[in-house]
Amino acid sequence: MNLNDAYEYFEELDDLDQNGTNQSNKKTSKRRESRKLEADANLFVRAQEVAREFKFTYKAARFEEAWLLSSLSDIAEHQWVSDVLRKVKGGKEASVYLCRTGLAISEAEFVAAKVYRPRTLRNLKNDQIYRAGRIDLADDGKKLFKEADVNAIIKRTAYGEELRHTSWIAYEFNTLETLHAAGADVPKPYAMSSNVIVMGFVGGNGAPAPTLSEIALEPSEARLLFDRVLRNIEIMLAHERIHGDLSAYNILYWDGDIKLIDFPQVTIPEANPSAWVIFLRDMTRVCQYFQSQGVRCDARKLAVELWTSHGHKVIEDVHPRHLDAEKKEDRRLWEKQKSR
Ligand SMILES: Nc1ncnc2c1ncn2[C@@H]1O[C@H](COP(=O)(O)OP(=O)(O)O)[C@@H](O)[C@H]1O
Ligand SMILES: [Mg+2]
Repeated sequence: MNLNDAYEYFEELDDLDQNGTNQSNKKTSKRRESRKLEADANLFVRAQEVAREFKFTYKAARFEEAWLLSSLSDIAEHQWVSDVLRKVKGGKEASVYLCRTGLAISEAEFVAAKVYRPRTLRNLKNDQIYRAGRIDLADDGKKLFKEADVNAIIKRTAYGEELRHTSWIAYEFNTLETLHAAGADVPKPYAMSSNVIVMGFVGGNGAPAPTLSEIALEPSEARLLFDRVLRNIEIMLAHERIHGDLSAYNILYWDGDIKLIDFPQVTIPEANPSAWVIFLRDMTRVCQYFQSQGVRCDARKLAVELWTSHGHKVIEDVHPRHLDAEKKEDRRLWEKQKSR
């Protein structure tokens, strides 16, 4: 059993613990039992080694603790974080933890650690639309050059899938680095390992900032922040990037300021045949929120202006290769395209 399987197994157990629906099926429970023995040998030994060096305040569920410890071991060893204080959000793709900084960071007391769930490996089957035209990246956020690694990704071997997972995260880190250096409103990135990103914590006194979707703005502030979001979208376009999942859910608000977050699906405009459609969707979602806050804006008109002023062509259709026949939304889009 590799480490990712072990994580998944422990997550299943945590879910079972929470739901109180243990061991209803004998067959599954037998299979679990044998997987457990193997996982015990792998994960707990490793987690215990790490735990000797690194103890944290946050009381994780028993099995979450094991994967958290081994996920954060590199990051803690390099002194990026010294303590995990609490879980800020547990999401489908990743959980975000409030951490105390280690000796490697002197400018801030807290940082956020986004720890990707190994489960993401399974969710990644629908990532193709975003990955088009992206060169895979390694866990230092730099391009993968080794032919064997690239081949493993293409052939989807177990090792290749791990690299693919890391590359997904590396795109988030690499984008944060590029945009932060360009003066965009994003958290400062500090470090990444194969499934963790350490970045500036947005909020105050250990309390995380709300997302825009959670708050109502005064009309005058709404206008200012809308312009601010557009400025960020322009910086992204100037650096050959589309967020790909931009909405009021991925913009944090703190003290009159905003920070854009959550970049793993970032898209390269010139290289991706569906780029315009992805961009228009981002613009539409952003405008929907700001319209609800009293800002008058026309998503399509603005999108066309921004897109063409950065030298891109408006191409309405999504390439069928990037549609998922199992998804209702994608099937509807396909029907619409055919009838145009
Ligand atoms: N740097 C950060 N500072 C404070 N809170 C954060 C930070 N990054 C993420 N969060 C919190 O964690 C949540 C999930 O993070 P996000 O990157 O959007 O991952 P996902 O939506 O894929 O689970 C956010 O909605 C936000 O509440
Ligand atoms: Mg998000």
